[in-house]
Order: sequence, then C-alpha cells, then structure tokens
Amino acid sequence: MTLHPDLARVLVPEDTIQAHVKVLAHQISQDYANVERLYLIGVLRGAFMFLADLARYLTIPHTVDFMAVSSYGKTAVSGAVRIVMDVREPLVNEHVMIVEDIVDSGRTLSYLYKTLQGRQPASLKTCALVSKNRAQVDVPVDYLGFHIPDVWVVGYGLDYADKHRTLPFIAELKEEVYK
Ligand code: IMP
Ligand code: MG
Repeated sequence: MTLHPDLARVLVPEDTIQAHVKVLAHQISQDYANVERLYLIGVLRGAFMFLADLARYLTIPHTVDFMAVSSYGKTAVSGAVRIVMDVREPLVNEHVMIVEDIVDSGRTLSYLYKTLQGRQPASLKTCALVSKNRAQVDVPVDYLGFHIPDVWVVGYGLDYADKHRTLPFIAELKEEVYK
C-alpha cells in the first residue's frame, strides 16, 4: 500500500483499531448491563467514526447524540472552549458517556465533563479512542483505546485542516506538514 505523501507512517492499523473498539464496547456493555439506556455523546467532528463503530458493537440499549465545540484560541494559555452545537435532551437522570476522538491537552474533555456534570446526569463517564502521552487531564478517561506519542495524527475521524479524516487507520502526519 502506498501512503499519501503527507503521512509519515501508519500508527494504528485498521484491524487493531477495530479490535480495540470491540473490546471497549464489550467492557461498556458489561458495565452498563443494568441501566435503562446509555446516552452516548460524540464530540464532533472527530469522534463520528469512532462513535459509529463503538455504538454498533454495543449490546445494551443506547442513544446516540452529538455536541460540537470550538476553541477560542490556538495557544495553550487562551485554551478556552465553547459549545457550538448542543445535545437534544436535558440529560437529567441519564447515564451519559462523552465519546472523544483524541485527548491532547485534555482541555476539551475537561470542559465538557464539567459542563455536563452540571446537568444532573445519573452518571457521567468518558471514553476516548486515543490519548497523547503529554495529556494532563484533570478528569478521568474511563475507557481508553490507545496511548500514542505526542505527534499529529490523522484518520479514523481525525483530520489536519479537514484532510485525511476518512482514512480507515490512524497515521502520523509528517512534521513538515504541520510545523
Ligand atoms: P485537547 O487539547 O485535548 O482539548 O484536544 C482538542 C482537540 O484537538 C481534540 O478533540 C481533537 O479534535 C484535536 N486534536 C488534538 N490532537 C490532534 C491530532 O493529533 N490530530 C487531529 N486532531 C487533534
Ligand atoms: Mg475532538
């Protein structure tokens, strides 16, 4: 297979992703076996593919919803997050799970966790496909697929300037493309 010239290497192949997503779905299905339904919230746009696969492997009743967030600034210090699209239901007494594509600094997940915690869910947990090693998250990532090095990755929902998002695997972007 020839890789696109923007890409340095495949970091997580398609079959490895699928195997891990199945394991996560199995674990979640066990942990939530006794709830009426699990309210999954995918964080757009990056988590759409992960959530689509994860939800199809679940064997428990669940509903799928989405939120979209945007960062106010690109720099580490400004790092504030705001909601640009919210979920459809109030979340009171729901068993809620935030589904993120990637945890980088951890700010997005932390913001969403604190915001949704304020809506009186019955429970609130977090799930992410990948976490970068530099991530310093002040909220727990309850279900995690992989740890990856601190490089820019694309594919399986993740993009760089809206490119490479629908690759079936996760690849490392060449440093010269994003630096
Ligand atoms: P945070 O720094 O943990 O708040 O991550 C913010 C968001 O940046 C993530 O949800 C992703 O959408 C995006 N992001 C961070 N690292 C990468 C990457 O390596 N590839 C693609 N998107 C990324
Ligand atoms: Mg994201």
